[in-house]
Amino acid sequence: MSIRTREWQLAARPEGEPSPDDFRLVELERPDPGEGQVAVRMIAMSVDPYMRGRMRLGPSYAPPWEIGETMQGGAVGRVVASRAPDVPEGALVLTDAAWRDVAVLDARAVTRLPDGDVSPSYYLGVLGMPGLTAYAGLFRVAGFRAGDAVFVSGAAGAVGSLVGQFARLRGASAVIGSAGSPEKVRWLREELGFSAAFDYHDGPVAELLRAAAPDGIDVYFDNVGGDHLEAAMAALHVHGRAALCGAISTYNATEPPPGPRNFSGLMVAKRLRLEGFLVGDHVDLRTEFLENVTGWLRSGDLVVRETVREGLEQAVPAFLDLLRGGNTGKMVVRLGPDA
Ligand SMILES: NC(=O)c1ccc[n+]([C@@H]2O[C@H](COP(=O)([O-])OP(=O)(O)OC[C@H]3O[C@@H](n4cnc5c(N)ncnc54)[C@H](OP(=O)(O)O)[C@@H]3O)[C@@H](O)[C@H]2O)c1
Repeated sequence: MSIRTREWQLAARPEGEPSPDDFRLVELERPDPGEGQVAVRMIAMSVDPYMRGRMRLGPSYAPPWEIGETMQGGAVGRVVASRAPDVPEGALVLTDAAWRDVAVLDARAVTRLPDGDVSPSYYLGVLGMPGLTAYAGLFRVAGFRAGDAVFVSGAAGAVGSLVGQFARLRGASAVIGSAGSPEKVRWLREELGFSAAFDYHDGPVAELLRAAAPDGIDVYFDNVGGDHLEAAMAALHVHGRAALCGAISTYNATEPPPGPRNFSGLMVAKRLRLEGFLVGDHVDLRTEFLENVTGWLRSGDLVVRETVREGLEQAVPAFLDLLRGGNTGKMVVRLGPDA
């Protein structure tokens, strides 16, 4: 017996912006689960900016996908066949086997999830990797303290929308966000409780930030890099802190991006602390993170939004759209029913 599945494979390595031709959807037969394995039918998969890095060769923290290889990434699914007593048929699980309908996996490689409390896709966003990234980056890496004025770029995305809200919930004196459209800016101000927000297309970021945060900032959470980082360094107070989470403005770049100008001058004169981080180094915070964020979800204090695309065929369009700002909140692709 075997299992029929569809899988997305990398077809080519793009220069600059990726296109649909860089991917290929194939139909395959996979063997049934062996001893200690489970077959998982996917409910929802994540598309994430770091996947752009996996399309290129060269040093990165996630290994490059091979041409002709089925791509991977976070997905939640339900076990439909099991030869592992700890992970029975019907269990809801988190896997690293996105970009396909069904996967046969070692039971050790999946994580069981609580069933029925929240939409399973929340484990790809607010209760998953992006949520922990926001939590660890703000509270541990940037050393956020009540009373801090916080600026976050990419503020209407999966990570950014949580950073701003976590800061507000823990007593920030101001929360400033930048995003790529008037609708996103309105959402930040009117629904997420940001004190100020701007569309970075409206002028030089340094000027827009100065107008939005005339008294300066204590903390910068960087999702974008480039001109946003340079502007934030100018706005940071003495002893300001920045958590460098990502630099999405550079991911399709074909040349190395220029660094912030006057970097050393500002670093020294203001005694700034800029620290890059990877969420994988902070998994020890997971229990604390889940407790706090589940509490905020239950009390209704946290606004969560997803941009949902339907069907495995939509996985590549969803990914390409994510890189262009087509999402508000977490971008997920729904692959099947929850039950
Ligand atoms: N360090 C870690 O461990 C870690 C973990 C997860 C994520 N990250 C990083 O965190 C950042 C956010 O990730 P996410 O999953 O939350 O994605 P996301 O923010 O939900 O989606 C990406 C967003 O980037 C924005 N964007 C695209 N091109 C841009 C540009 N040239 N300038 C400014 N903004 C641009 C778009 O929004 P607009 O409409 O606003 O342009 C888009 O919606 C990324 O840099 C990612 O690589 C790092």
